[in-house]
Amino acid sequence: MSTEIYYFSGTGNSLHVAQELQKRIPQAKLIPMVSLLQRTDIKTKADTVGFVFPIYLTTMPIPVRSLLEKLDVSSAKYIFAVATRKGTFYIADIHIERILNKKRKTLDAFFILDMANNSPCGLVPKNFPGFKKMVNNWTKEISQEKVMQLEYFVQERLNIINEKVKCQEKYRDERSIFKTLFKYLVDILMAPAKKSTGKQNIPFYSDSTCTGCGTCKMVCPSGKVQIVDMKPEWQKDTPCYYCYSCFNSCPEQAILIKDKYSNKDGRYLYPGIGPNDIAAQKPD
Ligand SMILES: Cc1cc2nc3c(=O)[nH]c(=O)nc-3n(C[C@H](O)[C@H](O)[C@H](O)COP(=O)(O)O)c2cc1C
Ligand code: SF4
Ligand code: SF4
Repeated sequence: MSTEIYYFSGTGNSLHVAQELQKRIPQAKLIPMVSLLQRTDIKTKADTVGFVFPIYLTTMPIPVRSLLEKLDVSSAKYIFAVATRKGTFYIADIHIERILNKKRKTLDAFFILDMANNSPCGLVPKNFPGFKKMVNNWTKEISQEKVMQLEYFVQERLNIINEKVKCQEKYRDERSIFKTLFKYLVDILMAPAKKSTGKQNIPFYSDSTCTGCGTCKMVCPSGKVQIVDMKPEWQKDTPCYYCYSCFNSCPEQAILIKDKYSNKDGRYLYPGIGPNDIAAQKPD
């Protein structure tokens, strides 16, 4: 069995999961999705193909959708996906299924893993009910203790995922007809988000503690962050993948979000994963 695992990760949760899967699946090859996005001819030769990524706004991030649409999976006999999330409802599975169906393939298995929430407010507007509470609770959600508690369940789930992939088992976490119908309803309501091309800007800015080190530019997978006069600038016409890598990787915690997050405490990268690991997803 030859296995390729394509991954995207903004802050290391999904990278950690991909690495842990690689340890369990002999000779599995890890491939960063972002490294392939500029190419037109992307073809897997593997017979087992996996996708690992975070859930954003119930679905998959922009680079994951782009990769899935481009990737020739004709050799694949078994296709699975593992999504990491903070814990809300998701419809990424039906979106992947739809893309694969157009290629006359199906998503054989979809697994979800609850991990730390990597951003104080994601794309949630500041007038959304409960916004303040959500932002104030964020630092607790990313405490070392909470992350390690979650890790215990992540490891257990990874063992189960490994067994199911090994047996090429068909699998969904959610199977009830009610939940499936609800997913299709949400899919219709979320149609605009699904078509997101990254034009909505998160109002990031850097404060006076910025040293101009360039880490935010180094990690940014879309090229949106550029350093101009020793300060980051988020280019208006370049899409944002909403990964929060720039915000979370700054060694000075100098990146804030206008009117949403001006707290210097609390930034999140999965323990042991650093900005260089995030940046390593980009093409050379
Ligand atoms: C823009 C954005 C939107 C998100 N939307 C959701 C969501 O809809 N549901 C959820 O459970 N988690 C959501 N999250 C949390 C991430 O899915 C979660 O923290 C993930 O494990 C991060 O993975 P990474 O470290 O590999 O980037 C969102 C995070 C971001 C940055
Ligand atoms: S990573 Fe932080 S300190 Fe470095 S250039 Fe970016 S904002 Fe400034
Ligand atoms: S600007 Fe920040 S959030 Fe947007 S793609 Fe770049 S690193 Fe990710």
